[in-house]
Amino acid sequence: MSGTSNTPSPLRRARQLEMYRRAIRTLPGGANSNFRAWGEDTIYVDRGKGGRVWDIDGNEFVDLRMGYGPVILGHGDERVDDYVNGRMRQGVSFSLTSEDEVRALELVCELTGWVEMARMTVSGTEATMHLMRLARAFTGKDKIVKFEGQYHGLHDYALISVSPNNMADLGDADNPVGLAWGRGIPNAVANTIIPARFNNIERLRRLFEMQGHEIAAVIVEPVLGNAQGILPQEGFHKALRGAAEYFGITPDLASFAKAMGNGYPAAAFGGRRDIMSLLPDKVSHGGTYAGNRVAAAAVVKTLEIIRDTDALETVHRTGRRIQDGLREVVNEAGLPFHFTGHPSMFGIMFTEKVATEYRDWADTDHALYDAVAVGMQVRGAMPEPDSREPWFVCEAHAKDDSVDIAVSAFEESLKAALDARARGKLAGDRALGFGSAVGAADE
Ligand SMILES: Cc1ncc(COP(=O)(O)O)c(C=O)c1O
Repeated sequence: MSGTSNTPSPLRRARQLEMYRRAIRTLPGGANSNFRAWGEDTIYVDRGKGGRVWDIDGNEFVDLRMGYGPVILGHGDERVDDYVNGRMRQGVSFSLTSEDEVRALELVCELTGWVEMARMTVSGTEATMHLMRLARAFTGKDKIVKFEGQYHGLHDYALISVSPNNMADLGDADNPVGLAWGRGIPNAVANTIIPARFNNIERLRRLFEMQGHEIAAVIVEPVLGNAQGILPQEGFHKALRGAAEYFGITPDLASFAKAMGNGYPAAAFGGRRDIMSLLPDKVSHGGTYAGNRVAAAAVVKTLEIIRDTDALETVHRTGRRIQDGLREVVNEAGLPFHFTGHPSMFGIMFTEKVATEYRDWADTDHALYDAVAVGMQVRGAMPEPDSREPWFVCEAHAKDDSVDIAVSAFEESLKAALDARARGKLAGDRALGFGSAVGAADE
C-alpha cells in the first residue's frame, strides 16, 4: 500500500496502462461504463475484500466508492456469497419463477412497510424506466417532473438535466430547460420531462398550477445523490410527498437497486397495489434476467442480514467516525465546509453556504475537493475523483483500520492540495483534468 507521508510514492500503474491500451482497442474508453473511463488513469481492478480493493498493479485502497454504493456489507461477503453460490449451482436462467424471487420481494414489502407489490429488474435504470411507464399508464398523462442534478439511470427519459459542469446549460433558474445528456435522445422524449429544482417547492407549486393537468408523476431521489447527497430541506418531501421510510413519507411507487443485493445485479420497483396491478395485463414489463436466480438469492440474503443484524447501524456509525475525523482535519485547516448527505453516503463540500440544489455545487470549491480526492489514492484510500460523488461506507469498514487510513489519507492530501494551491499549482485551479491533478498536488 502507498505510504501516508506528504510525498507518497506514486501508484504502480504499468499493468493498468498496458491494460488500458489493450482495452481501448475494443471497449470505447477502455471501460464498460462512461463513468469508469478515466483515460490513462482508468483503474483496472483485481479483487476486493471487505472494505478494500486491489488493482491489477497490486495497489491496495480503502474503497470509498463501493461500486457507486451497492456493496453495503463489503466485497466478497461470505454470508451472501455462500448463499448465492449454493443457489447458482442449481442453474441460473430458466425464465421461470423461483421461491427466492417471491421471498426477495416479500422482504422489500416487509422492510419498507408500505410497498404492497413489486417486481425485480436487473438494474436501477430499468426500475426507474418501468416506474415512469407505470405512472404514465395509471394516470393517462405523459409528462414527468424530474429534479435538476438527479440521476435515475441511463434510459432516455432519465437523461435530462443530470450533470452539467456549467450551470448556465440548465437555463434560467426561474425557467430551467431540459438539457439532454449526450446525443441520441429524441426531442419528443426529452420534451416529456419537466425539469424542476430540488428543495424549491415554490417553483414546483407554480409548475403544477400551470401544467398539473399533464403531469403523470414527480420522480425524486430522496437525497440529491449526484451532488454529494444534498439533503431535502424540512418539509420538502412532505410538500412533495415523495420520500419513503427514512423521511417518514409514503410515495406511490419507488425503485430500489444497488445495496439490496450487496453488489449483485439486482433491482426492483414497486408500490401501491392498484398501480402495480396494471401488470401483467395492461403494461409491459419483463426480461430474461428479471429476478434471475443469482440476483434474487443475493437480495434474500442481503435483506435478511439488514433486517436481522445491526449492519445498517454499523454503516451509519462508521460513516460518522469518518466524518468526525474529517471535521477535525478541515477545522484545523480553517476551511469553510459542510457535510452533505447521510453518514453512510456523505459528501464534504468546501463552502460557506449550505447547498440545497444541484446548481449550488458550482459555488463550492470543487477544484480543491477534486485534488484532495485524487491525492487520496496515492495515500491508500479511494473516493470517487469527482466532487459530485459521495463517499460510500460499508459494514466491513468497521472491522479494520479503514477509518484511520481514510482520514489520514484525506488529511495528507488536503495538506498537499493546499500547498499546491499556495504555489499556484493546483491543477483544478488551472481547469485541468483528473490525471494532471495527482502530479500537481503532489509535486
Ligand atoms: C438514484 C439512482 N437511480 C438510478 C440509478 C441507476 O442504477 P443502475 O446503475 O443500476 O442502472 C442509480 C445509479 O447510480 C442511482 O444512483
